This record gives sequence, C-alpha cells and structure tokens, in this order.
Amino acid sequence: MEKTLIIVKPDAVEKNLIGSILNFFETKNFEIIQLEMMALSDEMLNEHYHHLTDKPFFPEIVEFMQSLPVVVATLQADNAVEKVRNLVGVTDPSEAEEGTLRKIHGTDVMHNVIHASDSVDNARAEIKRFFG
Ligand code: TYD
Repeated sequence: MEKTLIIVKPDAVEKNLIGSILNFFETKNFEIIQLEMMALSDEMLNEHYHHLTDKPFFPEIVEFMQSLPVVVATLQADNAVEKVRNLVGVTDPSEAEEGTLRKIHGTDVMHNVIHASDSVDNARAEIKRFFG
C-alpha cells in the first residue's frame, strides 16, 4: 500500500466541494487515513512550494493558499501517488483531461482545486510536513 497527500485548496473550499472531493476518492477505493482542516503558515507554504519561491507569481500563490483554511488528507491505495495525480489532472485545468478534478472544477492555473504529491518521495515529505 502506498500513501499520498492531497490538499483541497481554498477555491474548492469556497465552492463547498470538500465533501464531494473526498467522496470522489473514497468511491475509487482510496482509504482516507489522515484528515485535517488547517490554515497554512508562510513557513509551510515556503517549504511546500520551495520549487516556486523564485517565480514572480509566488506571492500570489501564498495569498491564495492562505485565503481560507484548506483540507489536508493522506490517501492510501496501491500505486496511490500516480493514480491520484491521474485523477487530479495536469496543473492548468484548461489542458486537463476530461473527467479529472481540475478539468471539472478548476478555474485557472492557480485556482486548480487540489494539490496532489507528484512522487513517492515527495508524498513522504509532505505527509511529514503536514501531519508530523
Ligand atoms: P506545480 O508544482 O508546478 O504544479 P502541480 O500543482 O500540478 O504539481 O505548481 C504548484 C502550484 O502553483 C499549482 O498547482 C498552481 C500554482 N501555479 C501557478 O499559479 N502558476 C503557474 O504558472 C504554475 C506553474 C503554478
């Protein structure tokens, strides 16, 4: 069994999509093994998006990700990291495949509904970051 981390982002929280996103994964046989609603600190976001801190849009990402509390969850299944990334879709919702969460609910590249770990190593680091 593999674990991965998702974050239901503020745009999804604002659209009352927390339940339907969790249900989306539960009905696909992912087990939710950790779950918490939390406000993300500057420190958490600097670590989580360390690969983007040099980008001009980084302050906007921080502002968006702190605009409402988010829902962070650890999901477990065989091959969970790759399966969840496929179900989430690519970063830009307009380019995401039909049926993916970002295609269905996303607005633009920043307001793209959900974060999902992109590798097994990052999943391990992210689960530690958010759940200790
Ligand atoms: P990234 O890690 O590249 O993508 P993903 O979330 O698909 O793993 O980027 C992290 C988040 O940063 C992304 O979900 C939304 C935001 N972002 C922008 O707002 N503009 C951009 O041009 C990029 C690349 C990302």
